[in-house]
Amino acid sequence: MSALSTPAPIETEVTRLLGIRYPIIAGPMFLVSDPELVAAVSNAGGLGAMPSLNWRTAEEFRQALRKLKSLTSKPFGVNLIVNQANPRQKVDLDICVEEKVPLVITSLGNPKETIQRMHEVGGKVFCDVTTLEYALKVQGLGADGVVAVSAGAGGHAGPTSPLVLLPYLKKNLKIPVIAAGGVVNGAQMASTLMLGASAVQIGTRFIATPEAKVDESYKNAILRSKPEDIILTKKISGTPVAVIRTPYTDQLGTELNFLEAALLKNPRTKKYMKMVRAYLGSETLKKAVTGPTWKEVWSAGQGVGLIEKITPAGDIVHEIAREFHDAVSTFHQEHAGTSSETSRAQREI
Ligand SMILES: Cc1cc2nc3c(=O)[nH]c(=O)nc-3n(C[C@H](O)[C@H](O)[C@H](O)COP(=O)(O)O)c2cc1C
Repeated sequence: MSALSTPAPIETEVTRLLGIRYPIIAGPMFLVSDPELVAAVSNAGGLGAMPSLNWRTAEEFRQALRKLKSLTSKPFGVNLIVNQANPRQKVDLDICVEEKVPLVITSLGNPKETIQRMHEVGGKVFCDVTTLEYALKVQGLGADGVVAVSAGAGGHAGPTSPLVLLPYLKKNLKIPVIAAGGVVNGAQMASTLMLGASAVQIGTRFIATPEAKVDESYKNAILRSKPEDIILTKKISGTPVAVIRTPYTDQLGTELNFLEAALLKNPRTKKYMKMVRAYLGSETLKKAVTGPTWKEVWSAGQGVGLIEKITPAGDIVHEIAREFHDAVSTFHQEHAGTSSETSRAQREI
């Protein structure tokens, strides 16, 4: 951690709910997040999260949780994929319940059982959403918050601009909204809070950390890429995943072939096809993440354009908090003429 002083806390509905100092979640990242990265973020006052499927077996996942607990006493999160294509969803949920995981972030599928069982042990559940329709459904099931995954995000990006998605969800929901997609610095975090978010979930920026156990070639690609290098491909999981454009992704193409698309649509073959696609996609990703290979498929969001250096994960949390405070006070100074008194007077003219 850097020698700079610890920035002042930033209080929101989410920091109160989770008992954390800053509304900054390091998003779960397949093949990237591990206990060291998660603990560094949680120890710095944010909240780190990791996907249960980063471990080959449920038992290895349990051991990883225990290691994480030995590295931090602060709240942390686990991502569970709760659709039928994930054969581990039940056993991984059992482990989250037994190990009293403070926050579960669900993706895809129906989070009903996850919400019920985590609530029984005092855990909180946030659900990834990209539409209001699904957000209302999970709110009805008792979710504690929604992660609004917008256009520009790494991983499975949503289709909608955060400028629209955040206020749209905020206006129509009672539970907190967490902004995911493209956030790299504190000014961006301030803008998401202005739009109605109560926290940010950041993925891509945390790949450019010493803690992320991925090959240097991946980290270098994050540092040198521009926003327009990010493309969406269906070749990894069947649904659009944001990746950095490389000669290999050009060769691979971004659309499923006719047979794959048909099998993914057919109700009888859908589930198995999803499992096969997910398996093949994760094998390709694994090779690209763990070592240099010409088959370069690296997931990242448009925020790559704003990432300039490798920074320890805990320092990133503090840097963003510091930038947030600076952005807010600069905004007040630069717009001193539009103080609440002035704008009220103007509205009344
Ligand atoms: C390499 C990578 C892997 C990801 N894997 C997962 C995952 O397994 N589960 C999940 O819920 N989100 C996953 N995400 C999404 C992140 O948790 C987070 O919501 C997203 O990265 C936010 O957008 P940003 O990358 O622009 O910051 C992944 C993102 C990246 C970049």
